[in-house]
Amino acid sequence: MSKVLVTGGAGFIGSNLVDQLLHDGDEIIVVDDLSMGLASNLSNSPSVTFYEHSITDHAFMQGLLLKEHFDYIYLLAAIASVADSVARPYETHQINQEANVFILETIRQYKLPIKKLLFTSSAAVYGNNPELPKREDSTIDPLTPYAIDKFATERFVIDYGKLYNIPTVAVRFFNVYGPRQNPKSPYSGVLSLITQCFKNNQGFSLFGDGEQTRDFIFIQDVLSALHLIMTNNQAVHDVYNVATGKQSSLRTIIADYQKVVGRALNVEYLPARSGDIVHSYADTTKLKASGFSPKYTLFSGLSSYWMSVS
Ligand code: UD1
Repeated sequence: MSKVLVTGGAGFIGSNLVDQLLHDGDEIIVVDDLSMGLASNLSNSPSVTFYEHSITDHAFMQGLLLKEHFDYIYLLAAIASVADSVARPYETHQINQEANVFILETIRQYKLPIKKLLFTSSAAVYGNNPELPKREDSTIDPLTPYAIDKFATERFVIDYGKLYNIPTVAVRFFNVYGPRQNPKSPYSGVLSLITQCFKNNQGFSLFGDGEQTRDFIFIQDVLSALHLIMTNNQAVHDVYNVATGKQSSLRTIIADYQKVVGRALNVEYLPARSGDIVHSYADTTKLKASGFSPKYTLFSGLSSYWMSVS
């Protein structure tokens, strides 16, 4: 049994991770301010302790790190929306970067003997770089406060690790989808919005011609990838794309999802969003070398997702 800290553990990815860790028999401590997440996403198990708290409270975070002897730390708490980060750049910086650097600093200063710390970054760091597939060493072009802070924090995590001998690693999520993804904002992940449209029998606004592609990865595959990276001793002081390595167009996705649901989605075509990237998919060579291969096809992932909401 390991003791694990998950910041942002009440959110979409975080709460699914907590369930997986619980299943693995770990003791989990969640810190989440519920700005995006929901307390109801969290299990009532006595092995899960939930602190409704911001990670920006240094005294609280330091107290927690010194009191608990964490084996593993997953840093997921963030302003997770790019649009939000553009509206609140300084707050984004405090949450997405500063609070995480403070955690690293506490580990350094007090020589906390953690087994590994994993930071979750994003494909947003590649910005509009047209190179495909996106390799971890492709040109970085962070264009928003969100992407800038994600990239800078990756560097802090990796270089604190190297300089002070702390086992750290970072991942770049591509387009993650699955149960508990929040469809509340128009900038929410497109599959959470499509799911909501199917559920409520609403029309879906498709921005562009539907030929844009993304690398969509189902949450269960993300959890397998995180587990491999966290437990592989070779995966240290490095960054990994977390994706399937496959490109799917929105049209294909909608066609697959219609088969899963058994009815047509009413699609309204609107002009492409300004700044929208046309194609994105990952080179997953590094992740595969850690032993990862995705178990879910788009069809089986969408089927699982639909079963969880219908
Ligand atoms: C993702 C991020 C986004 C960030 C971008 C940069 C998510 C959910 N979004 O965007 O914040 O700026 O990476 O790397 O992680 N679409 C529609 N109709 C809708 C919503 C979306 O047609 O109602 C389209 C979008 O225009 C886009 C595609 O669906 O072409 C995917 O959108 P989205 O899920 O937001 O992902 P990214 O564009 O990859």
